[in-house]
Amino acid sequence: MTAESGASLLLVGCGKMGGAMLDGWLAAGTASRVVVVDRAGLPQSLAGDARVTLASGADSLPDGFVPDVIVLAVKPQVMEDALPSYRSLVRPGTVFLSIAAGKTIAYFERLLGEGAVVVRSMPNTPAAIGRGMTVAVPNSRVSAAQRDLSDRLLRAVGDVAWVEDEGLLDPVTAVSGSGPAYVFFLVEAMARAGEAAGLPADLALRLARATVSGAGALLDASPQEASDLRKAVTSPNGTTQAALEVLMADDGLQPVMTAAIAAAARRSRELAG
Ligand SMILES: NC(=O)c1ccc[n+]([C@@H]2O[C@H](COP(=O)([O-])OP(=O)(O)OC[C@H]3O[C@@H](n4cnc5c(N)ncnc54)[C@H](OP(=O)(O)O)[C@@H]3O)[C@@H](O)[C@H]2O)c1
Repeated sequence: MTAESGASLLLVGCGKMGGAMLDGWLAAGTASRVVVVDRAGLPQSLAGDARVTLASGADSLPDGFVPDVIVLAVKPQVMEDALPSYRSLVRPGTVFLSIAAGKTIAYFERLLGEGAVVVRSMPNTPAAIGRGMTVAVPNSRVSAAQRDLSDRLLRAVGDVAWVEDEGLLDPVTAVSGSGPAYVFFLVEAMARAGEAAGLPADLALRLARATVSGAGALLDASPQEASDLRKAVTSPNGTTQAALEVLMADDGLQPVMTAAIAAAARRSRELAG
């Protein structure tokens, strides 16, 4: 592969995440050729795109096709069945890039063999609209060039951070992986509280939703930290301060959030076995 020509990819699983990544690669020109393995076939929007072909499995790839990267984007529960057939594609020049929640590097090395070049990554749901946060960890066989290529592929659906310590993926899962659900719950909680304060239910929900998504967009557009933006909208003795005194009390939101994230990290460790 050359930077100009784009990479040669095998995408195993073209559902919500795999499909969003594929759209990103094609739009950015990161991939020159993608072979897709998915039981449902290719998305309608890709019919006629000469860069993308469908294969029924590892044993029916086009003649001479040697992927730079095999992106594993099937559900974790089908990985065990799907993976062994890709053992024949293990070689130093091919990276297995997994986005499957909870599947460890040791798991992939066990199913693919010790020689496998593996990147394990953990994206989150905003990746479906190109706004994800992914954290990736390489095994010891991943070269610098393979790490760069994996980074570019993951970047197609949002921001990417790399860690060397795989143990960090449990707290990563707890913060960014599961995090979107906490923010959605914040909308629900604010709406319920607005209703309790006298607002009609539908108006409370509309205000909470617009406020959380608008504040997220403002944070995204601003070079300032969240704490600076918070201080900027908190007038002394005003309404925001009255609420923050409750939220930031010793028994306020922080201990609840710390306990919630610790519970998610614990569960992530249990699920990884
Ligand atoms: N969705 C997220 O926000 C998110 C966030 C973080 C990580 N992830 C990870 O991303 C991975 C994919 O999740 P997803 O939400 O994109 O799931 P999904 O929409 O269900 O996509 C998985 C696709 O793989 C296909 N498939 C099933 N068995 C296969 C096989 N043996 N070979 C090839 N394709 C096969 C499925 O087809 P059928 O529908 O016919 O079974 C489906 O089209 C998961 O491992 C998940 O942990 C997802």
